[in-house]
Amino acid sequence: MSRANGHEIQPLTGARFGGVITIEDGAAFVGAVEAAPDELPGALDDADGLLLLKGMGAISDDPELLIRLSRPFGAEVEDYAQTSNRTNLLHPHSSHIIRISNLPPMNFPSPDPPDPPRLPDGGLPVQFPQRRGWHTDQSFRRPPPDISLFYAHQPAPRDQGQTLYADGVGAYEALPGDLRNKAEKLMALHVAPFKGYGEDAVINGESPQKLTERDGPQAQPVVRLHPVTGRKALYLCEREQIDWRNGPFVGMEPGIHGDGAALLYELMTHFTQPAFTYAHHWDQGDLVIYDNRCTIHSATWFDTQMHGRVMWLTTVWGNPGPAYDGEQRSWETA
Ligand SMILES: [Fe+2]
Repeated sequence: MSRANGHEIQPLTGARFGGVITIEDGAAFVGAVEAAPDELPGALDDADGLLLLKGMGAISDDPELLIRLSRPFGAEVEDYAQTSNRTNLLHPHSSHIIRISNLPPMNFPSPDPPDPPRLPDGGLPVQFPQRRGWHTDQSFRRPPPDISLFYAHQPAPRDQGQTLYADGVGAYEALPGDLRNKAEKLMALHVAPFKGYGEDAVINGESPQKLTERDGPQAQPVVRLHPVTGRKALYLCEREQIDWRNGPFVGMEPGIHGDGAALLYELMTHFTQPAFTYAHHWDQGDLVIYDNRCTIHSATWFDTQMHGRVMWLTTVWGNPGPAYDGEQRSWETA
């Protein structure tokens, strides 16, 4: 068992990766993190990029705590007034926080339930393609953000609106040799969702929208080398966050029926096996910190007619790894 900032880190129940810290006093914990700012990022690396902090409800009364807790994870807590056009998501306290919610003015829809909605044993489906929506945050920018901090201000009921996570390092290391060799050299084309480039838009014959420098598409390596741990991880999205017109992969047959599509299905099915995944059932005050360089995640359905769900998100930028050395940020080129 390891420790960070005076707290024990336990393994995450129901997963082969990840850690959990139980916190009594959220404001005091943020102070302890600021006093020894290397410890929590180190704990995140040790936990393969997924840390659950239980008991951080103090953030709801003082949103600045979320920004303060984000700072040790990188050079810059991103300002969504600069990185996104979606001003309706900005938190009234600060544009460094966005609100992911079905309530106005955010109006995020819930993802559709999988079809069928449950596994034969009643369990929650996690594996692609029964489960769709797997992505890493904002991979349509280059370099993409490193770390996300995702806070349950007002979660859906516990049996709805879960977030699923998958371990890119575990999935990479378990790849069969031929598939691993293929993935090593590959670049995928990532694009902002719901702009007419996603798989469904292509299937339905929708016209592509005009993209801005904040929307991509951007090519990203399918295997990323983590700059701190030195470990390789799968890095890939599906459905809405991949450009299905020109991709999924650079240099492969494009489109929904091409060789690239078949390879994406093979890789994502492998990546999201139950052995590499964790389903988080949210309680109010939970904060999940995840490393986008080595994990992916997916939202699940909740009843938007019955429930308002409000999640707060920060992203931290600054150490994308050697593949991005010396690059200008793609969204600042205009
Ligand atoms: Fe996300």
